[in-house]
Amino acid sequence: MNEVPVIAIDGPTASGKGTVAQRVAAALGWHYLDSGALYRLVALRALQAGVAADDVAALTRLARSLRPQFDAGRVCLDGRDVTDEIRREDVGALASRIAVHPPLRAALLDLQRGFRCPPGLVADGRDMATVVFPDAGLKVFLTASVEARAGRRHKQLSEKGFPSNIAILLQDLRARDERDSSRSAAPLRPAKDARQLDSSDLSIEQVVAQILRWHGER
Ligand code: C5P
Repeated sequence: MNEVPVIAIDGPTASGKGTVAQRVAAALGWHYLDSGALYRLVALRALQAGVAADDVAALTRLARSLRPQFDAGRVCLDGRDVTDEIRREDVGALASRIAVHPPLRAALLDLQRGFRCPPGLVADGRDMATVVFPDAGLKVFLTASVEARAGRRHKQLSEKGFPSNIAILLQDLRARDERDSSRSAAPLRPAKDARQLDSSDLSIEQVVAQILRWHGER
């Protein structure tokens, strides 16, 4: 049994879980796993290699041979910094389409569990609490209304100088929520013992403070 403590933070796209999880990890001095980045890395490789979204065997091979290097907020793959590339909307959309395949998900399990190193791990994703780290000491299901999430995504994109359209963002978020929640393999849903937190009207600082309070109560 692995005794290293884990805080699992799951939730839908653009719920803010990435930022929140990184800050919680920094506050505790723990490691951080962005599991969505792994699905995005497989999607990027598939795009580069011309592998189709339904070619499960080829996608699973890509996932199995994935050796990303995470360092100081950057991610390198095959010797190249791909931090910005994997954030592209087309990469995210493909990640969500290929994440439905059970063999691909299984191929990423060991890689994800390998991040569990002392003194602790904060992991964010969709199935951190339900599948990857079911023994996590604290499980948080972070939600926000689809309108709040579209607004945040819009702000993020315009800060980076990318124009975006709220109506299209809303449509895309709804489609991704639907796909993530309705798939049969590891669907997005709160673990039975997860604490739910709706961040629609909360600042990042308030969400982080709440999670640290829950952690401190344990
Ligand atoms: O969180 P992020 O948007 O980066 O994740 C990209 C896609 O990867 C999600 O839309 C989801 O379909 C998939 N994913 C997943 N399980 C995880 C993390 C991400 O299926 N643990």
